[in-house]
Amino acid sequence: MRVPNHLAIIMDGNGRWAEQRRLPRVIGHRKGAETVQSVVSECLRLGVRHLTLYAFSSENWGRPRDEVDALMELLGIFLKREIRQLGSRDIRFTAIGELDRLPAKIRTILDQAIDETAGNRTMTLTLALSYGSRNELARAARSLAAKAAAGLLDPAAIDEECLAAELDTAGFPDPDLVIRTSGEMRISNFLLWQAAYAEFYFTEVFWPDFSTAQLHAALEEFARRERRFGLTGAQVSPPGRENGH
Ligand code: IPE
Ligand code: IPE
Ligand code: MG
Repeated sequence: MRVPNHLAIIMDGNGRWAEQRRLPRVIGHRKGAETVQSVVSECLRLGVRHLTLYAFSSENWGRPRDEVDALMELLGIFLKREIRQLGSRDIRFTAIGELDRLPAKIRTILDQAIDETAGNRTMTLTLALSYGSRNELARAARSLAAKAAAGLLDPAAIDEECLAAELDTAGFPDPDLVIRTSGEMRISNFLLWQAAYAEFYFTEVFWPDFSTAQLHAALEEFARRERRFGLTGAQVSPPGRENGH
């Protein structure tokens, strides 16, 4: 099966999963963290090279203080536990987003995880934390403007490549497939620039219930899609040639 080189997931529905069971929302987040572990393992097994997980958006800072605090605590626990296993599995860990808004304790753990796994190659696991595409694009614009103002960059030379190089995802390939769980069919400020030609897959399943079987269903659907990138079908897969990249 043709697997996406870069899979990105909007992990949604933790709160509703818990509410349906009359449990506190934080229990849903805790269960969601377990799903992360199984999805990471399966993606590694299947040969996905880049996995990007939307864990906390810029807008999520506006949630009730208790929920934000609980999410940060959970993130710390998850990172400490998970990071130890990343090294032995040759997974490189990175993070995108406005990381300086995160609590200092979390940033220390993040920095350590990024440093310790920098040499790993089999898969890159990226967490989008305090991430919002509009914020990322604004920061990129600011950085380009500062370079131009300092005389280091000719504004006329700013092209797509130049802007992409200023994004948090600089150097990463664009996502091939974006999955969103929980039935919502929106992008919620995730990888707006990078997902320009991504395939989208939506499922009603809440993130804590997203199993390996659900992941396989999404990947099978992806393998059946014909991607065109603005070209004609014949250009993308000439007759007699295997359909794939
Ligand atoms: C996704 O689950 C996790 C985060 C956004 C942090 P939600 O917390 O959004 O769950 P629902 O959408 O309220 O069910
Ligand atoms: C998107 O989910 C962000 C994450 C999954 C981290 P939200 O639950 O915050 O998105 P909306 O508010 O339903 O659009
Ligand atoms: Mg949600």
